[in-house]
Amino acid sequence: MCGIVAYVGNKSAAALLIEGLKRLEYRGYDSAGLAVVRGQDQGIALCRSVGRVSVLEARYAKDAAIYEGQLGVAHTRWATHGKVTEENAHPHIGATRSGHTVALVHNGTIENYATLRKYLEGRGHQFYGQSDTEVLAKLVAELYEPQKNIDLERAVQLALQEVTGAYAIAVICDREAHTLICARKGSPLTIGLADNAYVVASDQSAIVAHTTQVIHLNDYQVARLCAGPSDHGSNEPWSIDFRTTTIDNVTVEQQVTELELDLQQIELAGYPHYMLKEIMEQPEALRTSMTGRLDLREGRVVLGGLTNMSRDLARARKFIITGQGTAYHAALIGEYLMEEMARIPCECEYASEFRYRNPVIEEGTFVVAVSQSGETSDTLEALREARERGAVSLGVVNVVGSTMSRETDAGVYLRVGPEIGVASTKAFLGQLAVLTMMALYVGRRRHLSQQTIGELLTELAAIPDKISQVLKQSEKIQACVEKVVDRNNWLFLGRGYNYPVALEGALKLKELSYIHAEGMPAAEMKHGPIALIDEGMPVVFIATQGNQYDKVISNIEEVKARGGRIIAVATEGDQHIERYCEGDFIFRVPHAAEPLQPLLTTVPLQLLAYHAALQRGHDVDKPRNLAKSVTVE
Ligand code: M6R
Repeated sequence: MCGIVAYVGNKSAAALLIEGLKRLEYRGYDSAGLAVVRGQDQGIALCRSVGRVSVLEARYAKDAAIYEGQLGVAHTRWATHGKVTEENAHPHIGATRSGHTVALVHNGTIENYATLRKYLEGRGHQFYGQSDTEVLAKLVAELYEPQKNIDLERAVQLALQEVTGAYAIAVICDREAHTLICARKGSPLTIGLADNAYVVASDQSAIVAHTTQVIHLNDYQVARLCAGPSDHGSNEPWSIDFRTTTIDNVTVEQQVTELELDLQQIELAGYPHYMLKEIMEQPEALRTSMTGRLDLREGRVVLGGLTNMSRDLARARKFIITGQGTAYHAALIGEYLMEEMARIPCECEYASEFRYRNPVIEEGTFVVAVSQSGETSDTLEALREARERGAVSLGVVNVVGSTMSRETDAGVYLRVGPEIGVASTKAFLGQLAVLTMMALYVGRRRHLSQQTIGELLTELAAIPDKISQVLKQSEKIQACVEKVVDRNNWLFLGRGYNYPVALEGALKLKELSYIHAEGMPAAEMKHGPIALIDEGMPVVFIATQGNQYDKVISNIEEVKARGGRIIAVATEGDQHIERYCEGDFIFRVPHAAEPLQPLLTTVPLQLLAYHAALQRGHDVDKPRNLAKSVTVE
């Protein structure tokens, strides 16, 4: 949700900033901009444009010489306050009393911006847009008084003391040509320590090309990063140094950590889209996720992240699993898994609801936050609320070093590699795999026999190969989609473990192809939504063989009787299903135990949404109005 990147060092900043923005573009793509300090007291060059980073790049390229400088900030926006216009694009500018200029980029929301704006207008600042960020840029400028020892670092600290809301910011001023200030509260920010330079970004993907040494800022922390020519007498031509403080100017020590990410992982590797790449790499991603965690000989699950609390987990009284969007769908499956395998009461809830509704947290409650990014604001706040009320917090998170991974008591990483496509695919399967392993881990410590767990582990280990078989149907799915892609209303129906898969299938289709789709338990259809069914309406059934197969078939009959067009995800070898749909409309998955079926049945629905979006001419990696990581409420 907005991407920020900033640079101070011995290279030209602008091209490097644009490169960084391209890597962060999946976080938002309404508008983009950059600002570069042209040298001590030489002013700031500002370039902003509505639309994608490519539009900004073209504008910059026309006058590249203007943007020559070694200190700069840049931004790609997902609009919150203020329309998608050039005036509201970042960086935002503020004029200081001493005649200098401050430029600032921001990810987050400033809740008290209206009050601050009124105050600043009273002080003579002229606003050109409606963005909350513009207020912050002007507030820093207002407070900047170098003659009174209020330099940029101090002005930022003071400004942030006045602010309520969430922020990750990077700030520059043309009077301090070698100093970059950044800070965070609630929104992610990582500082890369490169050779003779610092690169700051909303996430690691914009940093890894420069360095793997990073610092993760914590809430209310401010970093002052300096890189410039050394003083006379020094052996090194260039010197760099940094310090971090709280917004109250108390020095804080920082730990430098090593990024677990390499550049190759975030390249397209010959695929036309990240989404397709990420769908296709699911077998390998799951193998990596499970490596070293399934002990088939001993019939047990090994989860290093939970070792220290295995006894507490075995005695847990209740689990609450929470997340948003796709992660919420994984959490729903987690609820079924935990109750079936561990026999511990479990509730699944949207994080956004949980955090505001005064939930009951009793002794022995574990709250599990499920999140690809580990930064989703709703999930993070729910987690904090749960901890505050005494719950033990666990994270099921993909991004190593993310805020959730740092704020939970323990957790298990997905280990599926970076997910760049805005639509979550491999992270969903990773979440399912980890939740399954967690349920087995707890279940084994309670009542699951070695034999039962042994059988499930053997099946789980075979899942990646089975996914590979499902993926071979991509062309068939594409051909099916061609016949129905013009329909604007779809239903997705499933029962048991495949009910959340129906929700996920509908979400994928909605967010990528902008087709209206609803997912629900197959039985729920009769209670209202059946009224929607008309001649030819596509209704996708997850109709794999299992306990509720006959019931699903009855639901299929009901839809067929009303003219609906059935698309079925069915078990290989099931001939009965062929009575209800044309062969082209049946996507096959290999047989699997019911709790593991979502790991297979989700895959054709991902491909279906991918092909539908392409056939409707949409950008699958950057669907409209969406951002990868939702760091605002
Ligand atoms: O990073 P998270 O897993 O916490 O993100 C949660 C949702 O925002 C995310 O899954 C979203 O629903 C995706 N666009 C779905 O494809």
